[in-house]
Amino acid sequence: MSHEEKAVEVEDITKRYPSITAVNHVSFTVDQGEIFGFLGPNGAGKTTLVRMLTTLIPPTSGTARVGCCDIVRQPEEVRLEIGVVPQALTSDLDLTGYENMDIYGRLYGIPYKERQERIHELLQRVALLGREKDLVATYSGGMRRRLEIARALVHRPRILFLDEPTIGLDPQSRLAVWDFLRGMMKEGGMTTFLTTHYMDEADELCSRVAIIDAGRIIAMGSPAELKSSIPGNDIISLVVEGRAEDLAGSLKTLPFVHRVTVEGNDIHAAVDSGSKNLAPLVEQAGGTGVKITSASIHEQSLEDVFIHYTGKTIREEETKKVSFLAGPGAPPGQR
Ligand SMILES: Nc1ncnc2c1ncn2[C@@H]1O[C@H](COP(=O)(O)OP(=O)(O)OP(=O)(O)O)[C@@H](O)[C@H]1O
Ligand SMILES: [Mg+2]
Repeated sequence: MSHEEKAVEVEDITKRYPSITAVNHVSFTVDQGEIFGFLGPNGAGKTTLVRMLTTLIPPTSGTARVGCCDIVRQPEEVRLEIGVVPQALTSDLDLTGYENMDIYGRLYGIPYKERQERIHELLQRVALLGREKDLVATYSGGMRRRLEIARALVHRPRILFLDEPTIGLDPQSRLAVWDFLRGMMKEGGMTTFLTTHYMDEADELCSRVAIIDAGRIIAMGSPAELKSSIPGNDIISLVVEGRAEDLAGSLKTLPFVHRVTVEGNDIHAAVDSGSKNLAPLVEQAGGTGVKITSASIHEQSLEDVFIHYTGKTIREEETKKVSFLAGPGAPPGQR
């Protein structure tokens, strides 16, 4: 086995629909035992990629090896090695939490006793023990999501795919999902591929991240590598009264300012050493007649990396693409 080190190897994979190329010549590898994140705005192609890697839809061109096997030539073998949590909730509302997991275990042919033990252990880890005999219809969104992640692990997959595991969850449930995943990963032996449009999730959870926009990977590396790949190390944010664009234009002429973005009354400037350069930056504003009502400094985040490479914020993208929320597999008519 020459590929022993890599859990996933994706080679020049493309998915073209009549009106859009959802995934456009994407290549990357995922190491065994890491949490690899695919970070991008709505419509970037994340779900389409997951659906190809989990053998639900064929690529238009290119291929990938997931675990032992090729997704195009050996989809059955691939399916035995993976666990999948799709973006949309899929647990059966008319069954109990336990029954939802049990059906999965039986599909994979896990013997009764082992199945019971494994389900019990997983329910405990996602803090659903005590609720397993209740119908899923009575669960909260966070409970349902946790159940579905646990369900995907019943057959001890080598590779876990999570498509937006914390979308729509309250902050507490998000933290619970993160803790659970970290705990599972600590035990070793599993690789996780997840997609997200939450910058903090990618930063917190992933050892490596690929940033995807409009079907293409625009940057890839560890969160620290990505942040240090862009100029400046701090962001100075200003709230202003008056013509923000004028001030932004003037700030761009300062030697320590690398990039300036304007959102309404907010100005964000990527700078070297924010604490040292705040004063000269505020001084510059004096000359433009724009009044600064507040100023703050923070370290560059993956959000700033996204802005650097795409020229837009992930939020802008989201508001623009709200109509695309029809989601994975939606009929083209809905787009
Ligand atoms: N079955 C399909 N037929 C036609 N177009 C599709 C189909 N599935 C997805 N698309 C389009 O491909 C693009 C990528 O969609 P995809 O669902 O992969 O994005 P995403 O990154 O998962 O977005 P989100 O964050 O909203 O889940 C979108 O423009 C979408 O409308
Ligand atoms: Mg999606």
